[in-house]
Amino acid sequence: MKKIVITGGAGFVGSNIAIALNCDYENCEIIAFDNLYRKGSELNVPRLELNGVEFVNGDVRNSQDLANLGKFDLMIECSAEPSVLAGKGGDTDYLIQTNLHGAINCADVCRKFDAPMIFLSTSRVYPIEPLVNCEVSEKESRFELRSSQNILGLSEHGIAEDFPMNGARSLYGGTKYAAEIMLGEYRDAFSLPIVINRCGVLAGPWQFGKADQGIAAFWIAAHCFNKPLKYIGFGGSGKQVRDMLHIDDLIRLIKLQIAEPAKFANDTYNVGGGNFSSASLLELTGLCRDVTGNRIEITPELEMRYADIPIYISDNRKITECCGWKPEKNIEIIIKDIYKWMTDTPGVNTLFKD
Ligand SMILES: NC(=O)c1ccc[n+]([C@@H]2O[C@H](COP(=O)([O-])OP(=O)(O)OC[C@H]3O[C@@H](n4cnc5c(N)ncnc54)[C@H](O)[C@@H]3O)[C@@H](O)[C@H]2O)c1
Repeated sequence: MKKIVITGGAGFVGSNIAIALNCDYENCEIIAFDNLYRKGSELNVPRLELNGVEFVNGDVRNSQDLANLGKFDLMIECSAEPSVLAGKGGDTDYLIQTNLHGAINCADVCRKFDAPMIFLSTSRVYPIEPLVNCEVSEKESRFELRSSQNILGLSEHGIAEDFPMNGARSLYGGTKYAAEIMLGEYRDAFSLPIVINRCGVLAGPWQFGKADQGIAAFWIAAHCFNKPLKYIGFGGSGKQVRDMLHIDDLIRLIKLQIAEPAKFANDTYNVGGGNFSSASLLELTGLCRDVTGNRIEITPELEMRYADIPIYISDNRKITECCGWKPEKNIEIIIKDIYKWMTDTPGVNTLFKD
């Protein structure tokens, strides 16, 4: 492998992957391609360059920017407007142009250079209504999936890849699912190898979390810098649950996928913290209090938020069966690692304080 392009390479996921690959693939050029749309991504540019990764300022909406990269051997497509609330205000253009058309432009340039692609998709491709109506028990600090479920692909292990796909899934989820469908067509029509990872919540250092995306970093930042928080929806209970995967665990999987592409060939996998690493907002608060030693005001808000769901747990059994991969760094490690990064790294705290 001579050259790997990482789109969205100055973002949370992309920058961490780029730096990790640059350490492992000594004679390979690693390019981080990004238009710096996400606030905070600009802070990753010097970090990328310090770690030997070349940064290219470009836009996936513009196919010429992608073609200008020249021939490469693999693309990891991490660019996105990743907020689940994106487009809800009425302006859907950026979301659709980046997440759908951008992904297709990426597939086109991969086709041109005969390069395989690893696509970062999301658990948000699964429709909301069956997730809202799944069987949960309400425990003291969280909702929990019951072992008896009446929906295909749903069990106490979480949500599997054969979960039914009918129904609305949020504008964000819709763009990612539409991209998945088109990438499937590129696989079929042009024999372009594409692996799709449907990730649950991803978390770790260098995530510039905000209320609608990057919840772990956002929650810790509020505790570090005394900002108020809200438990939104679900009776203001804070019992909604997400699985959370440490970025290091995702990188381990990406490396396996690069090393043995045939093993993962042209398939779609759910990839997340699973039952091993998950938290409700209430539990997240407890962890943040422990690590920061600070208590902040958290107010309940009864009104449900657009596209919210009570629980998402990735059923990782397919990917584990395929290659043995499992998450290893649990939610406690995630919180400690983010806290350390947030408080130790010059410049980062000012971004969260604002
Ligand atoms: N972080 C999560 O919890 C999570 C969960 C599931 C899936 N994902 C997926 O993982 C990928 C990476 O997400 P992330 O958390 O790193 O988000 P991020 O916002 O940190 O990174 C995305 C990067 O894409 C860049 N970008 C946006 N529009 C672009 C454009 N038009 N052209 C070029 N670059 C553009 C942004 O500037 C940013 O640096 C996304 O595809 C997202 O859908 C993320």
